[in-house]
Amino acid sequence: MLLIPIIAFVSCQVNNTGTGNPEMDSLINDLMEEMVLQEKIGQLNLVTQGGGVPTGSAVSTDVEEKIRAGKVGGIFGVYGPEKGKQTQQLAVEESRLGIPLLFGSDVIHGYKTTFPLPLALSCSWDMELIEQAARMAATEATADGICWNFSPMVDISRDPRWGRISESSGEDPCLGAQIARAMVKGYQNGDVSRCNTMMATVKHFALYGASEAGRDYNSVDMSRLRMYNEYLPPYKAAVEAGVGCVMSSFNDVDGVPATGNKWLLTTLLRDRWGFDGFVVSDYTSVNEMVAHGMGDLQDVSALALKAGLDMDMVGEGFLTTLEKSLNEGIIAEEDINRACRRILEAKYKLGLFEDPYRYFDPSRPEKDILTPENRQFARDAAARSFVLLKNENQVLPLNKGGTVALVGPLANSRNNMLGTWAPTGNPEWSVTVMEGFKNVIGDHVNIRYAKGANISDDPDLAAKVNVFGPRIEIDDRPPESLLEEALHVSRDADVLVAVVGEASEMSGESASRANISLPESQKKLIRALAETGKPLVLVLMTGRPLVLNEETEQASAILLTWHPGVEAGNAVADILFGDKIPSGKLSVTFPRSVGQIPVYYRMKNTGRPQDGDAFVKFKSNYLDLPNSPLFPFGYGLSYTSFKYNNMELSSETIVPGENLNASIEITNTGNFDGEEVVQLYIRDMVASLTRPLKELKDFRKIFIPKGETKKVVFTLTEQDLGFYNFEGDLVTEPGDFEIFIGTDADNVIVKTFNLKE
Ligand code: NOJ
Repeated sequence: MLLIPIIAFVSCQVNNTGTGNPEMDSLINDLMEEMVLQEKIGQLNLVTQGGGVPTGSAVSTDVEEKIRAGKVGGIFGVYGPEKGKQTQQLAVEESRLGIPLLFGSDVIHGYKTTFPLPLALSCSWDMELIEQAARMAATEATADGICWNFSPMVDISRDPRWGRISESSGEDPCLGAQIARAMVKGYQNGDVSRCNTMMATVKHFALYGASEAGRDYNSVDMSRLRMYNEYLPPYKAAVEAGVGCVMSSFNDVDGVPATGNKWLLTTLLRDRWGFDGFVVSDYTSVNEMVAHGMGDLQDVSALALKAGLDMDMVGEGFLTTLEKSLNEGIIAEEDINRACRRILEAKYKLGLFEDPYRYFDPSRPEKDILTPENRQFARDAAARSFVLLKNENQVLPLNKGGTVALVGPLANSRNNMLGTWAPTGNPEWSVTVMEGFKNVIGDHVNIRYAKGANISDDPDLAAKVNVFGPRIEIDDRPPESLLEEALHVSRDADVLVAVVGEASEMSGESASRANISLPESQKKLIRALAETGKPLVLVLMTGRPLVLNEETEQASAILLTWHPGVEAGNAVADILFGDKIPSGKLSVTFPRSVGQIPVYYRMKNTGRPQDGDAFVKFKSNYLDLPNSPLFPFGYGLSYTSFKYNNMELSSETIVPGENLNASIEITNTGNFDGEEVVQLYIRDMVASLTRPLKELKDFRKIFIPKGETKKVVFTLTEQDLGFYNFEGDLVTEPGDFEIFIGTDADNVIVKTFNLKE
C-alpha cells in the first residue's frame, strides 16, 4: 500500500507556506511535488455513488476506475464502515499516490436518528439543543464512515413558497447566526481530527433563500446593504466558528452565478472573512453556469476555479476541461495548485493521512447509531420545537380520559414523519401519532381513528411528491366515504384531534408551491369536523409556513409540529396530553396570503407607514388585507401564561464603547411550570440609511415555575447597535434608539435611550 511514503513525508524538509501548521504544510508540499497535473485535478473532483440521492440531471460514472486512476478527491453516498473501507482501499491501495478520499453526506437533521426539520429545531430557540443535535448526528454519521457533512444550511428564508425553507432556520439573521454557530460547533466540536466529529459545510453560499418568487434555483438580485445586514450574517458566523467547508449556491449574485463569483468566493469569503477551508460547488452547479449563459463547460469551469471554487460536485467540468484551459493559458497552474492544496489540507485536518480508515470501525454503528438514548433525545427535541399557535379555552392539554377521535391523513402515517431531506433515515423506524397516543396514554383514553381525507386527492401532485417512496397515498375509498367515517368516529368523542398538513416531500428541494394552503381534501375535512361543534385540535405537520386563516378560525387549538422526525408520534402525544409543555416560537412569519410575501418582522417603516391594520388611502397597505401577518415572528403560546413587568435600562444615555443593560421581570401567571423565550429587539430611530422597525438582538429561553417571577438581564454592546454600510463595514451612529423586550415581535414593552457622540 502506498500510504506509507505519504506519512513519511512528515519527517521531510519543512517548507512552511504559512498556514501556521508546518507539519501539514510540509506533508502537502512534498505530496504535491509528487503529484502530476491530472492527479491534482483529480483531487478537485467530487463524485457520488450508489447511496447518494442524485439531486440533478447528471450522475457519476465509472467511479471505481476513476478512484484507482487518482481522478477523485471525495465521494458521497457511501454508507457503512465496510463499504467505506472498500472504497477507501481503492484510493489508498490502488491509486498511484494512495491519497485518501473524503467521504461526504447530507446529514441535515440527524443521521439515522432523524430529528425534526431544521426549521422546526430553529423554533426551539435552544442553542444547546441544536448543538447537541448536531453533535449526535456527527457521532452517528462518523460511526458509519462519514467525515464531511453538507450542513448547516443557513440560508435566510422569508418565502414560504420556497420548499427549502424547511431546511433553513427561518427569516432572521440574529437567530440564524446563532444557530449556524451552534451547528458548526456541534458537528466539528473544535477538532475535526477526532473520530466522532465531522467537517461541516456551510451552505448555500450565498443568498439561495432569496430565490425570486420562491421558485427553486431561481435568480437572486439584492442590494449589498441587504446582503450584509440580513442575508450574510449566518454564513459569516459559521466561518467565524471555524467551519471547514463552504458550498456555493445555484443562484446568481449580482449577475454572476455564485459558483463562478469571485467577489463572493474570494473577496468576501477569503479576503474579508478570512476563510481558510475549501469551497465545494453544489450538485453540478459548475455545469449549470452554461445554462446561466456564462459560456461552455470549459469557460465556466475556468471561471469557477479562478473565482475560488476548489471542488466540483459531480459535474466533472474541472476533471474534463482544466488541463485544456491550462494549456491554452486561460488558467494558471497556481490556480489548480491552490485548490488542490485546500482539499489536501482538509484531509490532513481530518486525520486521513494519519489513518485513512479511522472512520471505518465496524463495531461503532451498533454502539452509536439509533440508540435508545438518541431516540429519547429526538423525542425531547421534537417536543421542544413544537409551536402552539392557538389554544382557545385551554382545550390543551387533553385529559387522559374519555374518548378522542384521532383523524386526518397524517394521524396514522409512518411515511411522512421524518420530513424532507432525511436520506439516511428510514420511515419504517418512525413512530406514528396513533402509536404515540397508545404509548403515552395506554388504555386510559378511548381512541377512535379514521383517516378522514387523503393528504391530497390529486394524483398528479402525488406522482410528483412520491419520488422517494409513497408519501401521498390516495385511498381506494372515495373521499366522501373517508369523510363520513371521520364524522362517524367523531360522534361519541369528547374531543377531535386532526393531524393534517403536508406530505414530507411537499417541501424540500425542488418542491416550491405557489399555493401554500392546505390541500382542498383536508380543508373539507376540517370544515366538516368544525361543524360538529366539538373541540377541534389541529396537529399541523408541514415543512413550510402555510396560509391558515380559515383553519385558525375553525379550530379550538393548533399545535404546529412541522415534520417532527423519527419520534414524531411520541413527541406529539407528550405535548397533547401535557407530559411536556410547549415552548417553541416561530422563527418565520406566517402570512395571511401568498400576496403578502415577502412578509417578515424586520420590515422598514417606509415614508407612508400604516398605523394599525385599518386601510388608509395613500398609506403603504393593501385594499384587501391588513399588513400584519397571521402569526408574527417569535410567536408561540404555552399551556401557562407569562406577564412582563418592570423593564429597566441601566441608563438612558450611553457613550460609544459603553454597554447597556436592559432588564425585565417575567412572571409565570398560569397553572403550569413553563418555558418562555424572552426576545430583545432594537430600532435605530435616525440613521444615515433606512433601518428596520425592529431587529432581534438577543433572546433567552428560561424556565419559570408557576407562580414565580424571574428577572432577565440583557447586555447590549456598541456593536449590537451598529449596521453594515455599502462597503460592508459595521458602523454605529449616535442618536436615539428604541429597545423592546417581549414575547414575540409584536408583543413588546418599549423604552428609549440615546447613544451619545
Ligand atoms: C443539492 C443540494 O442543493 C445540496 O444542498 C446538497 O448538499 C447536494 N445536492 C448534495 O446532495
